Amino acid sequence: MAQLLLRGGRVMDPASGLDETADVLVEDGRVASIATRSNERARGLAADASVVDCEGKFVVPGLIDPHVHLREPGAEHKETIASGAAAAVRGGFTAVCCMPNTSPAIDLPSTVEFVQMRAAMTGLARVHVAGAATVGRHGEQLAPMGAMAGVGAVAFTDDGDCIAAAGTMGKVLAVCASLGKAFMQHCQDPTLTVGGVMNAGVTSARLGLGGWPAVAEEVIIERDVRLNRAHRCRYHVQHLSSAGSVDIVRRARAAGEPVSAEASPHHLLLTEESCTHTNTNAKVNPPLRTDADIRAIVEGIVDGTIDVLATDHAPHSASEKAVDFAAAPFGLIGLECALPLYAKALVERGAIGWERLIALLTIGPARLLGIDEAGFGQLRVDGPADITVIDPHATWTIDAQAFESRSRNCPFDGWQVRGRATDVLVGGRWVLRSGNLAARTLPSGEMVAHGL
Ligand code: DOR
Ligand code: ZN
Repeated sequence: MAQLLLRGGRVMDPASGLDETADVLVEDGRVASIATRSNERARGLAADASVVDCEGKFVVPGLIDPHVHLREPGAEHKETIASGAAAAVRGGFTAVCCMPNTSPAIDLPSTVEFVQMRAAMTGLARVHVAGAATVGRHGEQLAPMGAMAGVGAVAFTDDGDCIAAAGTMGKVLAVCASLGKAFMQHCQDPTLTVGGVMNAGVTSARLGLGGWPAVAEEVIIERDVRLNRAHRCRYHVQHLSSAGSVDIVRRARAAGEPVSAEASPHHLLLTEESCTHTNTNAKVNPPLRTDADIRAIVEGIVDGTIDVLATDHAPHSASEKAVDFAAAPFGLIGLECALPLYAKALVERGAIGWERLIALLTIGPARLLGIDEAGFGQLRVDGPADITVIDPHATWTIDAQAFESRSRNCPFDGWQVRGRATDVLVGGRWVLRSGNLAARTLPSGEMVAHGL
């Protein structure tokens, strides 16, 4: 494969602490060298090497989103593995981890392999699979997690639903610990959210909509942290939404418990005030909360309590969302606009710098998914050339109609944002080049990568 030189960008690799102007040489799908600017010929740059000018841009490890819903199998009208992978690449993500709440649920090795096969056929972003922890995600009988891990499931979760029974939860934690895989909990005590559709408080009362209290999330985290002391599984809190949850995770980590947590763009930028009877794109599980919760989540990111960011990209069709708030499905999409939204919530507010933001989007999720040892989430010589080039100054308007996703349920539609992935390499192959997606749609309707 010909050489490719990404020249003169600000190269950031939080895993190694590198943050300086450098040239990254890619060869045979791997990072061949990372060098501060010097004589290219001396480093063996071939005459036919292609050189890409990255001045003024960031060159970072490919972004990883550990929490997306790709809807295939079962709801391909909302998203497919191909359209979701295309959306990922457009957003600067070289890898995602998809949730098992499909139809059927991803609770068997053969279903894990089906998703992997579809992703490989598409050839855009890498798609890792989180297997269901219980059969059918019913929270009762354990799914064959060992067999799923055997074919490459990277983590386990019943996301969309919580494992509510403590007895089942204990067994799941024990199995995940023995497999060395993270368990990712959707923290929601279902007995506390009956009839709930938005945050419980004055706004829900004013709108006459059922309230969903923060304590429904917090009691599950407290319980699980305590249950996990006997197992020491890597326990991960998905889409953390409340100040109380930040507090519990902070204390657990200070006590040395193997606990991590993720925050999502919507829980950093929107509050319950966005909920109205008609704005169903603001309906999400867990619900949008308050300014005080946002401040606490930002603090949790600043002090290291939260070390992973995730979109919880959850596509739904326009017709399903075109109903009253109470009846609409929970979920919103985020893959294609997450990067500038994180920047708006965290960097533009002065809470953290770009280098830390990149850490939360690369090595943080890679460690969670256990793919860091294979070199993902970092830029290291001989590691896979999964690389994202970002123009931090690009100002643009989010236009959901232009998304690669098959769905449009994005509450950020029309927002002015800054920062965009312009170029993306997966395994040394261009999947996004100067803002153009390296994909075409086959007569079957499927999308596949083509070379750029
Ligand atoms: O809002 C949500 N939507 N939260 C979840 O946990 C599941 C997701 C979905 O699958 O639609
Ligand atoms: Zn969830």
